[in-house]
Amino acid sequence: MLWGRAQVDDQGGEAEQEIVAAADGRTEEPLAISMSGPPTLQKRDAASPDVLRRRFARVRREAAGCQRCELWARATQTVFGEGPVPAALMLVGEQPGDREDLEGHPFVGPAGRILAEALELAGIDREATFVTNVVKHFRWRPSPNGKRRLHERPTRANVTACLPWVQQELELVRPDVLVAMGATAADGLLGKGVSVMRDRGRPIDSQLAPTVLVTIHPSAVLRARDDRDAMLDGLVADLRVAANALPSAG
Ligand code: URA
Repeated sequence: MLWGRAQVDDQGGEAEQEIVAAADGRTEEPLAISMSGPPTLQKRDAASPDVLRRRFARVRREAAGCQRCELWARATQTVFGEGPVPAALMLVGEQPGDREDLEGHPFVGPAGRILAEALELAGIDREATFVTNVVKHFRWRPSPNGKRRLHERPTRANVTACLPWVQQELELVRPDVLVAMGATAADGLLGKGVSVMRDRGRPIDSQLAPTVLVTIHPSAVLRARDDRDAMLDGLVADLRVAANALPSAG
C-alpha cells in the first residue's frame, strides 16, 4: 500500500489528511483518510465485492504493522475487524481485551460471549456481521501482583491515531447499519455530541451509514451484578432495532 500526504481542503480549512492508495494490484483513486475528528465517508466508488475484499486484505496487512501510537509496543498484535466484506451490519467496540490480544480476533473473550448471546437473542447472525473496534491494540496495565494484564481505557490520542483504520473498514465494509457499542466507540465514530445512555437504540443523524445506532458495550453487562438481565435485555433491544433496519428485514 502506498502511503502519502496530501493537503485536502474539505470545509474551507487546510485539513491535512493522509492518503492511502487503495490497492488491489492496480493503480486506483486513493481513498482519503481523515486524520482528525470522527470518520467521514468519502464518495463510494463502484468497486465489486471482490475488489473490496482485495483492498480489505491489503489494508489489514498494513494495519498489522501499525505503530501510529504507542500501544503496539506492549500489545501482542493488531486485532483488525473480521467478518464479511461487504457486510450489511457492522458493530464497533472499544479495543481488544486480553484474549483478543492473544488470539488476534475481536470479541472472542468474555465480552465476546455476551455479544454472541445478545446477537442470537436479537436474531442476528454473527457470521454475517462485521465486528471490529475503534482501537486495534490492547491497552493494559499489570495487576498489582504482576500476574494479569488489566484493561485500561484507550486515550483520546489512541482513538484518534486508530481512526484511519476504522475509516478504511467503513469504506470497504459499506454497512447498511452501523452500531457503536459503548462510549469510546460512540465518541470516536460520532463525536462528543452523542451520549450512549441518552441516544441508544434510535437512529442517529450521521453520514457513516444509512442507519447508525449506539448502544452499551457488552462488557457493561458483564460488570452489572444485580441487573445483569436488564442490561442484557437492553442490549438485545438495541440490537433488534439494528436487525429491523437491515435491508433483509424487508
Ligand atoms: N471489548 C471490546 O471492545 N472489543 C473486543 O474485541 C473485546 C472486548
